[in-house]
Parts: sequence; C-alpha cells; structure tokens
Amino acid sequence: MTPTAGTVRVLPDAAALFLAAARRVVELGQAAIAARGAFHLALAGGSTPAGLYRLLATPAFAGQMDWHRSHIYFGDERAVPPDHADSNYRMARDTLLAPLAISEAQVHRIPTEHPPAEAAAAYSRCLRQHLPPEGFDLLLLGMGADGHIASLFPGSAALDQRNKPAAVATHEPKLAAAGGVDWRITLTLPTLNQARHTLLLVSGAPKADVVRHVLRRVAGAAPLPVQMLHPAGTLEWLLDREAARHLDLPVES
Ligand code: 6PG
Repeated sequence: MTPTAGTVRVLPDAAALFLAAARRVVELGQAAIAARGAFHLALAGGSTPAGLYRLLATPAFAGQMDWHRSHIYFGDERAVPPDHADSNYRMARDTLLAPLAISEAQVHRIPTEHPPAEAAAAYSRCLRQHLPPEGFDLLLLGMGADGHIASLFPGSAALDQRNKPAAVATHEPKLAAAGGVDWRITLTLPTLNQARHTLLLVSGAPKADVVRHVLRRVAGAAPLPVQMLHPAGTLEWLLDREAARHLDLPVES
C-alpha cells in the first residue's frame, strides 16, 4: 500500500467496523496511559463515528480503559453553538462524553460561542497548551465523498495553513464565495499529520468511489485532502463492505 493509504481493513458492515474501531481505541488508549499516563484522543465529527462512540460507552468497553486519564479534542467543528443539532461536540457529548462521565476539564471543546476566527485562535492556544509535542495518541477521522477530512475541503485555503494548529475553513468554498455561510473550525494538516496513530472510519456505498480513487491513486489527479495525510505515525483505514465495494480486498469475518 502507498504511504498515504496506510493499512486497509474491510469489515462486513458498520457494526463490525465500530467493533474493530472500539477495540483499537481501547488498545491504543491503554498503551498511551501505560506509557505516558494520559490518552490524548481527537474525535471525528459527522455521523459515522456516533456508532463507535455509543459502543465505547457500553459496559462491554467502558471499563476497559481509564477514561479519566483521557484528554478529548475535536478534529473540527461547525460554527454553531455547542448545543446545536449540527455540533460535533454535542454529538460526542450525547454518545460518549456524558455516558462515560468524562469531566469538562478533560474535554477541549472548540469554543464556537465566539466568532470563527476567535474560536480558531482560542483552539490553537488550547492545543499548544494541552497537546504534547508528539501530538495526539490517536486521531479519529471520517472522510467525505469528496475526499475531505475534518473540515479540510478540496480547494480550501486552510489546506495551506502550516503555522497554526487550527484554522477557519468554509464548507463548499464556492458557496462561501457566493456569500454562503457555512463556517468551520478545523485542525490543520500539520496537526493531523503529527498523530501517533490515525484511524480513518469510512462507511457506506456513497464513499465507495472516493475510496477507489484514493486507494488506487489515480495518476495525474490533483491530490484530495485525504491524500495529503502523511501521518508521522500509523494510518489505518477501517472500511465496511459497502465503502470498499470497488476494491478487491478480503472482507474480515
Ligand atoms: C464533520 C466531519 C467530517 C466528516 C465527513 C464524513 O464535521 O462533518 O468532521 O470530516 O468526518 O464529512 O461525514 P459522515 O461520517 O457524516 O459521512
């Protein structure tokens, strides 16, 4: 596999994907806590990871790791209040943070109650204060059907940001150019690529075309944001059968 591709696992369905991911989260969390006394975990947003977060909060997994030694961060956030239906923080709070009673002191939320530029600057300060030099112990990411990761969308100026850990971005950059307002705050590529371990969770048939494009590395095509992932550490793709349907890879039983 090419360096960008990392290692690729195909699971029979979304439930099996969440189970495999939950096992990796706990395994890496236990190792980080044993080695360094803390687990610095960046959560993915969107809809896919909710199933993983709910599973991590079940009795089968909740007791396998000392969540009180975790520090929770976010890969990106929509510029909406933390209790908004579109908030990645709210999704994580409802599925993982509240069920596991993770204290607010351990949760480094992107402060979207402030305007986007101020929220991004505040989050950058927070990352510089709390994140070890080696970066996240584990970075969870999803991927859009256009190959975006976090809120780094194709053509976004935020892709070129090298000096700040977090930046302001817009979804549908052309929409923003037309006066559309879908502001985001996102980790920048250097921060994403610093992680010791990165898990990319990709589920569902709508992602199959971009998965093929990325993992088969179409010659000459401009790199998509996900292809700009060159982690210092490991990169693992966890796909379900639907997302991997254009790949001739074995499906784990
Ligand atoms: C977000 C996420 C984004 C997400 C992808 C996939 O804020 O939406 O950070 O990068 O991971 O868009 O989203 P789904 O899991 O909903 O397909």
